[in-house]
Amino acid sequence: MPGYVIVGMQWGDEGKGKIVDYLTRQADMVVRHQGGNNAGHTVVVNVKQTILHLVPSGILHEKVTCVIGNGTVLDPAVLLDEIDMLTAGGVEVSGRLLISESAHLIMPYHKLIDKAQEKFRGKNRIGTTGRGIGPAYADKADRLGFRVGDLFDKGLFAQKLDTVLEYKNAILTRLFDEQPLDAKAVLSEFMGYAKRLRPFLADAVAVVREALGTNQRVIFEGAQGTMLDLDHGTYPYVTSSTTVAGGVCAGAGAGPQVVAGVIGIVKAYTTRVGEGPFPTEQTNDAGEKLREKGREYGATTGRPRRCGWLDVVQLRRAVGLNGLSCVVLTKPDVLGGLDPIRVCTAYEIDGTRTDEWPVSLSSLERAKPIYEDLPGWSEDISCCTRWSELPANARSYFERIEGLLGVPVAIVSVGCGRDQTIERSSPFLPAGA
Ligand code: GDP
Ligand code: IMO
Ligand code: MG
Repeated sequence: MPGYVIVGMQWGDEGKGKIVDYLTRQADMVVRHQGGNNAGHTVVVNVKQTILHLVPSGILHEKVTCVIGNGTVLDPAVLLDEIDMLTAGGVEVSGRLLISESAHLIMPYHKLIDKAQEKFRGKNRIGTTGRGIGPAYADKADRLGFRVGDLFDKGLFAQKLDTVLEYKNAILTRLFDEQPLDAKAVLSEFMGYAKRLRPFLADAVAVVREALGTNQRVIFEGAQGTMLDLDHGTYPYVTSSTTVAGGVCAGAGAGPQVVAGVIGIVKAYTTRVGEGPFPTEQTNDAGEKLREKGREYGATTGRPRRCGWLDVVQLRRAVGLNGLSCVVLTKPDVLGGLDPIRVCTAYEIDGTRTDEWPVSLSSLERAKPIYEDLPGWSEDISCCTRWSELPANARSYFERIEGLLGVPVAIVSVGCGRDQTIERSSPFLPAGA
């Protein structure tokens, strides 16, 4: 049952999209199992950049099936725009993209409430993407959600919408001073989506099970990152889904035994978008250099990403939470010319040194990083295609990270392009293993 989980090891934007696309040449299926269009996954092939928010990043490989699973939340307008964008660019989507009937819909009031709640939180805002993700997952848990399958029973959809909208309009108007939504207009908008989405509908759980059962290689494409996980991240500064590897099981409807490997994507430095603690953040020249050289601006919202040094205390926590089989290290090319390269290996909290990740937010906010300085390199490594071509200091840096994390670095990515990838060892088990 060869399923492989791709998981972001920091606060998102580690380069998951690039690596999923790269690995898909050796896969049969790619599945999104959580999150929604808060994600922005960038794939660059022959200089052409494609940013995907909902469609799995394997879509550019024509023989591969892409699945949007039950654990996701789906904004139909965004999905249809993405499908149109791909089709216009010559990517055949029909027959290859399948959407779970059980995925939840992001409704217009979810987006309005997301933004209104952020305003309401004031200085305690989370810095959400404003895409309605939190409110949609909250409604799912509250059993007030609409699922993709609901679109295909107009009578029931209309009936439910009347009830839910009465409740949501009360919140919008009385609590947030917003305009109410008109049930007829929402119904007509969503029935339009229903027509276009019908051909993509599938029992995604059965499709994924069939693939795994016939020994096809399935990649589960995580969105966001471990530290944005609803349970294990820096709560409340997190997203509303399970981003750790274990989320695959519920989000795609597969048992844990299908997971043959967990591949952690680690950016060679750290970034974060939105609010919340970030011990190694550099609000100085070094941070500015990382942002500019790494082009650290959000693929979804365009917001500048907060930048800082690699944090091994944080990463070791993520290794444990995900049960990694190997690491893919991305964007070390951005570190070229920086000397020394700093790596946080422990924290000092209230005068005490620790190498354990503090679970309490207030302790984390007081954590002062203790750094190990590693020698940098001046060469441009973005053209290197083999491990042996890398400068000695770059190799030592990778080996040091490997040692600190206790997990092998299987792949090093040295640029945004599909080919700018150095594979040291296969992240997949040998066939038949
Ligand atoms: P994701 O959300 O994890 O898929 O990551 P994003 O696409 O939001 O952000 C990663 C950014 O880094 C994108 O602009 C990628 O094109 C780019 N990128 C990915 N890998 C590398 C790399 O190894 N080097 C450089 N310089 N850029 C990379
Ligand atoms: P990818 O998949 C980086 C962050 C938001 C905010 C918090 C909650 O591209 O790595 P939400 O809209 O989800 O309720 O926002 O989570 N966030 C991301 N940060 N990359 C992402 O996705 C993110 N998705 C959400 O900035 O801090
Ligand atoms: Mg992203």
